[in-house]
Amino acid sequence: MPNNKRSVIVAIDGPSASGKSTVSKRVAEDLKFVFVGSGAFYRGMTWKSVREGVEVKNPEQVIHLMFQLKWNFYAENRVVVFTIDGEDPGLQLRSEPVREKVATIATIPEVRSFLVERLRETKRFGDMVMEGRDVGSVIFPDTPLKFYLDADPQERARRRHKELVQMEGEGNVSEVLDSLTRRDQIDRTRKIDPLQISLGAKVINTTSLGIEEVVSLIVSNVQQAISKGL
Ligand code: CDP
Repeated sequence: MPNNKRSVIVAIDGPSASGKSTVSKRVAEDLKFVFVGSGAFYRGMTWKSVREGVEVKNPEQVIHLMFQLKWNFYAENRVVVFTIDGEDPGLQLRSEPVREKVATIATIPEVRSFLVERLRETKRFGDMVMEGRDVGSVIFPDTPLKFYLDADPQERARRRHKELVQMEGEGNVSEVLDSLTRRDQIDRTRKIDPLQISLGAKVINTTSLGIEEVVSLIVSNVQQAISKGL
C-alpha cells in the first residue's frame, strides 16, 4: 500500500564538532525517528577514493569512480548506514586520510548532486533527523524544523580532540584546531552549497551548554511544532 504520509524531517546543520552528531543522534532516539549523518556519505566517497588510489584533487577521476560504485543504503536500529561495493567502511570513515580529504571531495558539484539525491531518498525510511552542512538549505529546504548548532572554535577543537584521544589514543589540540579551521574554511567558502545558516533555522550556540540541554531544547521545539500540525 502506498504510504502517502509526509515524513517529518528535522534538519540540524553546523560546523565540525559543534555537537551536531551527538545531539542529532540523541534527538532521533528521543523522538523515535531515523538518524542520518549526511557527512558519512561524503566520507564514504572519500574512503573509497583513497582506497582506489584516486587523487581527490582531480574531479574527473573522482566522478569516474563515483559512477562505478554500487551503494546500498539500509536502516539498522533506526540509523541509516550503507555499504559501497558490498563493504561497510565502519570506523574507517573517521580515519585521518578521510578527515583530511573529505572537504575537498565535497567541493565537487557532481559529487554533491549525486549524494544530495541519495540523501533525499532516505526519506523512505520514515520520520528522520538529518545532520550536516546543507540539510536545511539544500537537501530539505522545505522542512519547517531547522536548527543550526555552533560553538567557539576552541571549544570545538577541545571536543574533537577528546573524541580522537578516545578513538586513536592520541592527539594534539592545536593540530586539531588547525585541521578543523582548514575544513571549516573550505566548507564555508565553497561555491556550491556552502555551510550557512539556512533561512528560518533556529541558531543554538552550544559552547557552554550541555548535551542534555541542547537535546531537550530541540526535542521540545519539534514536539510543539508537531502538536500544532507543523
Ligand atoms: O563530524 P564532522 O562534523 O567533523 O564532519 P561530517 O559531518 O562527517 O562531515 C565531513 C565533511 O563532509 C564536512 O567537512 C563537509 O566537507 C562534508 N559535508 C558536506 O559537504 N555536506 C554535508 N551535508 C555533510 C558533510
